[in-house]
Amino acid sequence: MSTHELFATRASRMKASEIRELLKLLDQPGIISFAGGIPDPVLFPAEGFSDAFQAALGPEQQAQALQYSVSEGYVPLREWLVDHMRSIGVECGLGNILITSGSQQALDYLGKLYLSPGDTALVGWPTYLGALAAFNAYEPRFDRLTINSNRGAEGYAAAAGEGAVKFAYLSPDFANPTGETVDLQGREALLDLADELNCAIIEDGAYQALRYNGDAIPPVLALEQARKGSIEDCRTIYCGSFSKTLSPGLRVGWVVAATPVISQLVLLKQAADLHSATINQMAINQVARACFGTHIPMLRRVYGARRDAMLQALQDYMPTGVQWTKPEGGMFIWLTLPVGTNGADLLARALETVKVAFVPGGAFFPDGSGTNTIRLSFSNSDEETIREGIRRLGEVLRA
Ligand SMILES: Cc1ncc(COP(=O)(O)O)c(C=O)c1O
Repeated sequence: MSTHELFATRASRMKASEIRELLKLLDQPGIISFAGGIPDPVLFPAEGFSDAFQAALGPEQQAQALQYSVSEGYVPLREWLVDHMRSIGVECGLGNILITSGSQQALDYLGKLYLSPGDTALVGWPTYLGALAAFNAYEPRFDRLTINSNRGAEGYAAAAGEGAVKFAYLSPDFANPTGETVDLQGREALLDLADELNCAIIEDGAYQALRYNGDAIPPVLALEQARKGSIEDCRTIYCGSFSKTLSPGLRVGWVVAATPVISQLVLLKQAADLHSATINQMAINQVARACFGTHIPMLRRVYGARRDAMLQALQDYMPTGVQWTKPEGGMFIWLTLPVGTNGADLLARALETVKVAFVPGGAFFPDGSGTNTIRLSFSNSDEETIREGIRRLGEVLRA
C-alpha cells in the first residue's frame, strides 16, 4: 500500500518540469546547448584543487579534514570571506558569516526561517527558478517586486493581505535569468521600500564577481550599511557562492547577515546537515587564497568574449521582432520573442531540427506567464559554437 496520500500539503506544490524531460535530449551528439547556467569545466582551477585536497589529506590537516566540525563553517575560510566582503564594501565579522552547502541551501533555510504558509515573498517576474523552488516548499504567496515603479509600500501591503510581506528576493547583479543589473538608484529605492514594509531583503550575489564591463555597483548590503552604520542594524541578508567562480561541485556558499539571523540559520543547519563538508571548505579556502585574484580576471576575459560573441551573433542572425538584454556580466542573455511565439514549442522545434537547446522563459515566472521568452547561457560554449548556435536559432525562428 502506497503512502503518497500522506505527503504534507507542501508536496503538492513541488512539480517536476516538462522542460527537464526535453533537456534530457542534451546528451545526444551534435547538440549546441545554451541551456545550463554552468561554468565551463575547462576553466576550473583543477590543479589548485588537486594540491589543496592533497594537503587536506596530508598528515597535518587530515584529522580536521575528515572529522565532524562546527556548523558555522571552517574558520580560515570565514576569515578570508571577511576580507572578501570588505573588498566589495561590506564590513562584517566572523559572527556574521555562515558557510552553506551552496547558496541554494541558504535560500532554502531563509524560506524556512521567514515564511509561514500564506506569507508573501516578493520576487522578480521572472526570477531564479531555484529560488522559487526553495521558497515554494514553505507555501508562500509570490508577489511581483517592481523596483522604481509607482507601486508604494501600501500597494504591496494591501496585496499581501493577512500574510505579511516577509522578504524581497533579488539578484541585483546580472540576474538569472535576464542578465540584468539593478542600478544604484534602484538599490536605494529597494532599501526604502523594505524599511517601509519592515521586511528582509535577500540579496543573491551568485554572479557578483563576474562583471565584464561597466563600473561595479555596491551590494545592497553595503548601501544599507552606509545608511545604518552597523551590519547588526541591517535587514539585508547577502548570499554568496563559489559555484560560478571556483567550482559548483564542491557546494560551498556563504551567508552574511546580522548575528541574530546567522544564529538562527546555524540552528537550521544543525538540524539539516550539521555542517558543510569540511574538506571542501578547506580546499575552497586554499584555492581562494592562492588564486582568486588572478582567476576572476581570467574568467571575466573568457566569459566576456563569449558574451560579446553572442550579442554580435544575435545582432547578425535574429529576425526583426526579437529583443534581448545586454548584460554587463554573469552568464545569461534573455530573449523576448514576438507575442504568440511560444518558447517551449520553439525549444522542441530547435532540438529536433537544428539541435540547439536553451531554457524556455515561462518557468522563471511564478504565474507561468512570459511564455514568449527564452534564456540563453553563453558561459559554456566557445565563440565559434555560440555563433553557429545563434545562426541556427535564427533559422528556426524565421521558419
Ligand atoms: C541566481 C542564483 N542563485 C543561486 C544559485 C545556486 O547556486 P549554488 O547553490 O551552486 O551556490 C544559482 C545557480 O544557478 C543561481 O543562478
